[in-house]
Amino acid sequence: MSQSELTAVPTPAKAAAEGALSRKAEHGADPLFVNRWSSRAFADRPVAEETLLAILEAARWAPSSNNFQPWRFVVARDAEQLERFHSFIVPGNLEWAAQAPVLILLLSSVEEDGKPNGAHAFDTGAAWAAIALQASLFGLNTRAIGGYDRVKARELLSIPANFELHAVIALGYPGSTELLPDKFKDRNVPSGRRPLDESIIWGGFSG
Ligand SMILES: Cc1cc2nc3c(=O)[nH]c(=O)nc-3n(C[C@H](O)[C@H](O)[C@H](O)COP(=O)(O)O)c2cc1C
Repeated sequence: MSQSELTAVPTPAKAAAEGALSRKAEHGADPLFVNRWSSRAFADRPVAEETLLAILEAARWAPSSNNFQPWRFVVARDAEQLERFHSFIVPGNLEWAAQAPVLILLLSSVEEDGKPNGAHAFDTGAAWAAIALQASLFGLNTRAIGGYDRVKARELLSIPANFELHAVIALGYPGSTELLPDKFKDRNVPSGRRPLDESIIWGGFSG
């Protein structure tokens, strides 16, 4: 791989979309939203800092209540940092997540100016969506991890009490499903969704 391939922000790659060809939009949303999916397989390829920063930049522009921007990103990308993260991810997730070259713990500040911010989790969810979609546009894969020890993570990363811990995001270039442990191989495919009309309540629950 040339140096420029390692450092350039990649143009939209087909890799993620190819894995998601089985998905169909009911109402013509942009393929960006439909084709993003969370593979457990990561390639043995580093993510250039420029690319990582561009992905986090997308999250920076997420909307938030009062523009408080409650999100914070604890990033692990060198061997020592990754090893620390691996120590609090549950074994069933670590089996695949250990291959990810970047792990990002999403936090949110639960208060602003000494007052509780009721929208901190909602807003940080928007930031996560921006990360996932920008990564997908660059041809990178993300998979969120809720299965980790939050007490241990808080302690090991010295996270202050006024931050809530959300998911760890595994980030990297998509890898080969064939190289995953056997138990994940059949499950490593794009999932479906329930029909949209089961999620819409027109007008209100009372009809
Ligand atoms: C908050 C959150 C926590 C998750 N935790 C895990 C997890 O611990 N392990 C895992 O393999 N996947 C986890 N996932 C991935 C979801 O299972 C996945 O996003 C969902 O099945 C939809 O699939 P898709 O992202 O491929 O569309 C998590 C996703 C989110 C948003």
